[in-house]
Order: sequence, then structure tokens, then C-alpha cells
Amino acid sequence: MSVKVRTADGDAIREAAQILARGGLVAFPTETVYGLGVDATNGDAVARLFAVKQRPSINPLIIHVRDFASAERVAFFHPLAWRLAERFWPGALTLVLPLKRDAGISLLANAGLETVALRVPSHPTAQRLLALSELAIAAPSANPSGRISPTRAAHVAGDLGEKIDLLIDDGPSALGIESTVTGFEGNRAVLLRAGAIGRDVIEPITGPTALPCFGNRPSAPGQLASHYSPRAQLRLEARSVSKQEALLAFGPDVPPGGVQTLNLSARANLAEAAANLFAMIRCLDASGTRTIAVMPIPREGLGEAINDRLERAAAPREPLS
Ligand code: TXA
Ligand code: MG
Repeated sequence: MSVKVRTADGDAIREAAQILARGGLVAFPTETVYGLGVDATNGDAVARLFAVKQRPSINPLIIHVRDFASAERVAFFHPLAWRLAERFWPGALTLVLPLKRDAGISLLANAGLETVALRVPSHPTAQRLLALSELAIAAPSANPSGRISPTRAAHVAGDLGEKIDLLIDDGPSALGIESTVTGFEGNRAVLLRAGAIGRDVIEPITGPTALPCFGNRPSAPGQLASHYSPRAQLRLEARSVSKQEALLAFGPDVPPGGVQTLNLSARANLAEAAANLFAMIRCLDASGTRTIAVMPIPREGLGEAINDRLERAAAPREPLS
């Protein structure tokens, strides 16, 4: 049996809301990547989500809510969080804030932490699903743990197949890279995961961000070094390509050779490169090549998140226990 896929119309979104209310799993589009959603207050549903993704239970989920008022019912807002939410919500920013216990969020969803990660997505289909279901939706990226995130419905179908109850197809994700995860320590914002909103646009609002401190467990386990593994090895900062390699290019000057070349952005545009990143890695990986050479990508703005994902994809595999 294959996964049930529906195009994102009113009927499909209503069905999705009903499935969530019954404790089911629905994959849906967001502006960053596709998410795999469950009712965040339903512990059984959250447990099934962890099992389907084979996600370590120490890795907390992002809770998606409809608007700022709904977010305030779930967490206490830091003054800087107010300002960031005002500027970037709805959108690709996740805020890690002290949890209000009486909000009823399943303990498993935030891995029993004192904090909870919240995001108000801007994608119209995600928004309609949140409005119709009237739920807080716990939704990690809709990929098996440790694999690259899906930016097309077909990626979700291929990765998770019949393990989910419904997949809503609404075309490619516009941004193509996950949300920026920001926490707070004292009077500072802490960038926990680089993402679709660059440090360069966050810092004018928050002032300089602090570096995350690592305790016994990563404060954002998405920081596990090999979190985004394709099958092929990645060779970064490549300025040439050998006959056996595939090439992930960037910019107008592409070295010749290679079994296959895809260009993240021929006009060297970082937003375009982010939107293409995961889909192009998947495509080159599927060609069966053993090595993907990746051209250098500037580290400013969105380039920070792109290089972060590439470095993790290139890192030696770690067991995800
Ligand atoms: O763009 C996105 O953020 C996508 C879409 C679907 O919204 N979601 C996503 O979720 O990327 P996921 O589960 O793949 O990544 C969530 C990240 C992880 O790095 C997790 O460790 C971190 O958020 N996180 C969640 N709760 C946290 C918390 N209480 N403290 C610190 N980090 C947290
Ligand atoms: Mg993920």
C-alpha cells in the first residue's frame, strides 16, 4: 500500500485536520521544508511520530501554532522574543522559550525540557491547517531522523511512504532550508540552529547573538554533527571535479567534467541556492555517485545555514542513539 497523497485544497485540509484530531500523522508543506505533524497534546500520537521518524527521544520537536496569541498560551516570552516574533512571524523563525506546563503539550514533544520551541509558519496551507484543526501541531521535518529534509511531496512519499496517514502536496517549499532556531540566555539571543533567516537580519533586532553552550546533550540536537546524511560522500570547497564525481555547483563559473552537474544558483544568489539545496543533493545522491563535489559558497547571510547543512552532510556518520 502506498501513501495517501492529496493536493492542498479545502477538502484535503479538512481531512488532514480530522486525522490530526484523531491522533494521526499528516505531512504538510511549510515555507521552509515539509513537516510531519501530530497533535502536540496527544502523547500517543507524539510517540508514534518519534517511532516513524526513528528519532531519538532526547530530540525535542518544534510546536507550530497559528499566531502570537496561541504562542503566548504555550510559553513565556522573553523581551527579545517579542521583538523577533513581531518582525519574523509568521515565518521561518523558531523561538525556544520557557514552557507553560498548563498548556498541555505532551512531555515527549519537548523531550521533558523546561523549554519549548515555537513557530508560526507563513505557508497558507500550514496556516489553514492550524486554523481548521485549532491545534498546536508538533512537526519535525518529514524525513527519517539523520537524513536530509524534504522540500517536495515526492521526497516525503519516498522517505516515509505508508507509515503516515496523509500527505498534502502543495509543490516545492519556497525557502528550502529549515527555520532558524533562537533561544535566549540572560539578555542575549542565542542562535541554536542557523536557518532560513540569517544572523545578519536577526542581530540588528537583538544585538550580537551568543554562541550556544553545550552541556551533556546538545541544546538543539539538530546540531548533531552528521544530521543531514546523503549516501554519497560530500567533498566541500571543490574548485574542480573528477570524472567519477558529481558536482554541486554555485555561481556562473562551473568547472568542466563530472558525471552530472547541478547548479544551486548560476547567478550566485544565496536564497535560490537554499531553496535548491536539499532537492539537488537528493538528486545527485540518487545518481549513485560515490562523491559529490561541492563548490565553495560564501558564508554571509543565508550562506551560514547552507554551509552548516553541507558540513553536517559531509561529516562522518554518527550513530543516532
Ligand atoms: O523549518 C523547520 O523548522 C521545520 C518545519 C517543518 O517547521 N521543522 C524542523 O523540525 O526542522 P526538526 O524537528 O527537524 O528540527 C527541530 C530543531 C531541532 O534541532 C531541535 O533540537 C530543536 O529544533 N529544538 C526543539 N525544541 C527545542 C528546545 N526546547 N530547546 C532547544 N532546541 C530545540
Ligand atoms: Mg529535521
